[in-house]
Amino acid sequence: MLRNMTNPLRNTATARLSALANQLVPTSQPIVASNTLSYQPATFPTNSSFSHPPQRYQQHNQQQHPSRSYSTMSQANQAAHPLTMIPGPIEFDDEVLAAMSHPAVPHTSPTFIKIFQESLQLLRKLFFSTDPNAQPFILAGSGTIGWDVVGANLIEAGDAALVLNTGYFSDSFADALEVYGAKVDNLKGPQIGSKPSLEQIEAALKAKTYKIITITHVDTSTGVLSDVEAISKLVKSVSPQTLVVVDGVCSVAVEPIKFDDWKVDFVLTGSQKGLATPSGLSVLFASAQALDVVKNRKSPSGSYFASIPRWLPIMQAYESGKGAYFATPAVQNVYALLASLRQFATSSEQLEERFAKHAATSDYVKDTLAKAGLKTVSVDRESSAHGMTAVYLPEGISNADLLPLVLKKNVALAGGIHKEIVSKYFRVGHMGISATTPSLGHIDTALNAILEALKELGYTY
Ligand SMILES: Cc1ncc(COP(=O)(O)O)c(C=O)c1O
Repeated sequence: MLRNMTNPLRNTATARLSALANQLVPTSQPIVASNTLSYQPATFPTNSSFSHPPQRYQQHNQQQHPSRSYSTMSQANQAAHPLTMIPGPIEFDDEVLAAMSHPAVPHTSPTFIKIFQESLQLLRKLFFSTDPNAQPFILAGSGTIGWDVVGANLIEAGDAALVLNTGYFSDSFADALEVYGAKVDNLKGPQIGSKPSLEQIEAALKAKTYKIITITHVDTSTGVLSDVEAISKLVKSVSPQTLVVVDGVCSVAVEPIKFDDWKVDFVLTGSQKGLATPSGLSVLFASAQALDVVKNRKSPSGSYFASIPRWLPIMQAYESGKGAYFATPAVQNVYALLASLRQFATSSEQLEERFAKHAATSDYVKDTLAKAGLKTVSVDRESSAHGMTAVYLPEGISNADLLPLVLKKNVALAGGIHKEIVSKYFRVGHMGISATTPSLGHIDTALNAILEALKELGYTY
């Protein structure tokens, strides 16, 4: 098309394109259609018990921020759409979506190498890791490929794996490990919504030697939060050779993970939840101990694509500022990931503030729902995730009644997924921009929609 343009036009177009290409995050120029969201931020009825956000929530969220103020985060350039309040994918900030529209750039070019390099460097900050022998990875894929990476590289046929099981996603992780020949023992808490105790875990580790123990940091099916720090420290004191593997798909960038201090060996996540980026990336972080286990395998890695030995030199090359190829990276997704990481992972202060904001928002959501007489699936607050809430339906109301009614109010929620209680509960996501930027009104809009819909279905409290 440029070839058919007259010279001055072509020069202008070329200049615009190369300006865009050199700009990771467009700042003032919207590059998507300028539509505001169709929903209106909700105002609560003044006589309601949830009419005013608790003071702590308001104060906390009014603070100003060191790099990019959360209050400037915007969705002004996005087409109207139902507010996506599921536990991932989540609502996006304009800058992150704009970064996805980066023009074509070769994945081995110096321009892209710099983008990949900075992304890997910021992942070290995200995990509070300064150990040069630990290694971040960014692969094309979703959270699930992380399970394959664990199975194919840390498991050899017959190896024992202890799965701390807090719901559907722990079951699935166990299934994935069995594909690679693991002998899996599941350890559960006393009821759905609980987690195994430290005493149970210690006894299991003393009774048998496990190659790996897996912790689903937040099981997205139940909203149960596990205490990675306490478990990891326990494992390293009772069974130091056991690798601590964390499924952080619903926790990374919402809940803290202090990789070196807590002596974690492997974290896997996807891009579409706490990382606040479109789906499409698998993000991994491996300790030196985990990489040694891979190096010293008796059999080759059990996968072609999900092979740490194949990806390790590629990540090391990118991080040191050189290009390398094994399989094509998801170029535009990496641009979006970097745009997102630059918003919250450039310093530990920024990260701590992000965690605190998620915790405050989570308390607000859970308090509001509790005041309305609704019960969470997680048995207590200490075991509850900060980026999502799983809520039991009131007696006599089904998801088939509630969710379409809430959607009519322009809010998308998720149904149940845990097989034993699937029809009895629903799930609300409160991660990323929805949790950190109350001026967008997402949280109040979602809560209002839920409570109004329940009222229309005859629920009183
Ligand atoms: C805790 C957990 N682990 C793993 C997965 C699988 O990730 P994905 O759907 O991105 O493949 C999910 C998905 O929601 C999850 O919540």
